[in-house]
Amino acid sequence: MPLLESPDTALVTGASSGVGATYADRLAQRGHPLVLVARRADRLQALAERIERKYGVAAEVLAADLTSPPERNAVEQRLREDERIGLLVNNAGMVAGGSLAEASPDEVEAMIQLNVTAPTRLAGAMLPRLLARGRGGIINIASVLALLPELSRGAYPATSGYLLAYTRTLHEEVAGRGVRAQAVLPGITRSATWERASGDFDELPPSLVMEVAELVDAALAGYDQGELVTVPALPDPAQWERYEAARLALAPDLSRDHAADRYKSDILEDA
Ligand SMILES: NC(=O)c1ccc[n+]([C@@H]2O[C@H](COP(=O)([O-])OP(=O)(O)OC[C@H]3O[C@@H](n4cnc5c(N)ncnc54)[C@H](OP(=O)(O)O)[C@@H]3O)[C@@H](O)[C@H]2O)c1
Repeated sequence: MPLLESPDTALVTGASSGVGATYADRLAQRGHPLVLVARRADRLQALAERIERKYGVAAEVLAADLTSPPERNAVEQRLREDERIGLLVNNAGMVAGGSLAEASPDEVEAMIQLNVTAPTRLAGAMLPRLLARGRGGIINIASVLALLPELSRGAYPATSGYLLAYTRTLHEEVAGRGVRAQAVLPGITRSATWERASGDFDELPPSLVMEVAELVDAALAGYDQGELVTVPALPDPAQWERYEAARLALAPDLSRDHAADRYKSDILEDA
């Protein structure tokens, strides 16, 4: 049975295009009323009208620049106070162009505001209410670059790594209390963000690029299956389980009262 069975309202950030717009469509199809957040109010309004016509669920526009503290605060307040909102999809994201050395510091800071600060503050605003009612979910859209930052440039992969780590901790804190957490790790997905950041899709092998609809449908199937981390492209779940097992096997050896022998100099040994 799908875990998204309740008709709770879903707040989707970055709903004006790409992955977020498709989440809005699919969640409305499942009966969830929506609050749609992004900067381009005209696009959100057109989507809201289309969704209301198509599925007969209410879709409200809450235009906000999530890098602007006062505008972000309005979204936080809504999440804090609106008892109907039970699902948050932290999807809005951007890529600051260039390598670590080349990137504009202001653009990198805006990216961190959007990809890191906003999802953290939005989830934090909503969590006490979800825990009190014992129901709800938070979906964080990260990227496979959380696992392989070496494959890209700049600070974007680090923002994905943050979202993955955040979601793991969130899961630990809410597990058994009726609240769900999911990190979604898309690979290359045909959308405006990728085209802006990386240029022409036609130069990529088609086998590397997923369509947005397929990505979102797979991510929601992962949510329904109770996954904490969903990597829509990964064919063999056993590969992920081996990765997780190897990671967790480090646990007993990562904090000890002495440094490992290979770090002990003769001087330290003699002291
Ligand atoms: N496409 C890929 O290959 C890929 C791969 C891995 C992960 N992802 C992740 O998937 C998520 C969705 O990206 P996408 O591919 O669907 O890109 P997209 O089509 O460019 O959508 C980005 C969304 O974020 C919104 N947004 C951007 N800046 C904002 C701001 N300052 N305040 C509020 N909203 C803002 C945009 O709306 P407005 O411009 O109207 O504000 C838009 O709705 C992102 O988190 C991205 O990192 C994408």
